[in-house]
Amino acid sequence: MRLMVVGGAGYIGSHTVRQLRAAGHEVVVFDNLSSGHAQALPEGVPLVQADLLDAASVKAALEAHRPDAVIQFAALIEVGESMRAPGRYYRNNVVGSLNLLQGIVETRKVPLVFSSTAAVYGTTDNVPIPENAPLHPESVYGETKLMTENMIHAFHVAHGLPYTILRYFNVCGAAPGGDIGEAHPNKTHLIELACLTALGQREKMMIFGDDYPTPDGTCIRDYIHVQDLADAHVLAVNAMAGGKADAATYNVGLGHGFSVRQVLDAVDAVITEDGLPPLTREIAPRRPGDPPRLVADAHRIVDELGFQPQFTDLKEIVRTAWDWHRKHPHDFER
Ligand code: UFG
Repeated sequence: MRLMVVGGAGYIGSHTVRQLRAAGHEVVVFDNLSSGHAQALPEGVPLVQADLLDAASVKAALEAHRPDAVIQFAALIEVGESMRAPGRYYRNNVVGSLNLLQGIVETRKVPLVFSSTAAVYGTTDNVPIPENAPLHPESVYGETKLMTENMIHAFHVAHGLPYTILRYFNVCGAAPGGDIGEAHPNKTHLIELACLTALGQREKMMIFGDDYPTPDGTCIRDYIHVQDLADAHVLAVNAMAGGKADAATYNVGLGHGFSVRQVLDAVDAVITEDGLPPLTREIAPRRPGDPPRLVADAHRIVDELGFQPQFTDLKEIVRTAWDWHRKHPHDFER
């Protein structure tokens, strides 16, 4: 199949482009490079450098490249920033996706895979979280993803647009080999920050709260390796091509969680093997908006799409992130 991957030069997009090609698909990337990197793309993948907010470019790209399916990754993703600049988030994430939907139904009406997030659930006691849990996003970021999910469903009802929505839990790690990886302009994610701290770019790791109602007092998250997540997209595309799914929503996680302390222990285990000292840790106040436990009920994607994550060992997951950051301490810059 020929896929148009919107936001394909970003962290999850670039890993997905690679896995799609490995599965024999042809790929064209549409990306404005606002946070993505052309260097993250394999040689020979065409890049349309354009913005989803430019509806005419979106339609022109769909008409020129005639994809059999579209995957939509392009979005702003920072929870804190979304609360300070809601207009930017609603415009980029909601209007951008609307232009894409409109472009698809006006041209080829091909299936769409959409990257959504566990942030659509908000805080819940219903853990592990099933897909049919109530949806109460607590940030503008989560709200933009939920609004887009709802728009996609409306386009399905009105125009027959087939879709698969994937709700990601905590995405982490990097392709083994360390040549592509997480490279956001603003660093907030736990494993990435821990690796950069080990490289001496920060003095210490803050643990945001150790008085949560969890076994070791720190927050628990479901850490899904980016390459496994990329494979979930390949499964989704193949299922839609086979006509198996035309309106499906799946959580993508391991189905079990690790605490902040367990993650930092795994980072220590990896870096001390490379002769570095363990990280200095400091207990800091809770970070506003952090639920104690966010873990996926991941049965649906396993049962329906045959999803089988390969990276289930936390130390192995961290090792792939560490290899990327060690080889690229300043992302793609040097
Ligand atoms: N944390 C620390 N110290 C740090 C950074 C993070 O203790 O320096 C803690 C956080 O408080 C949280 C955990 O580590 O308890 C994970 O935090 P991340 O920032 O890595 O990830 P989040 O769980 O906040 O959010 C991520 C994505 C969201 C997505 C969510 C789904 O950024 O978009 O996972 O589970 F919705």
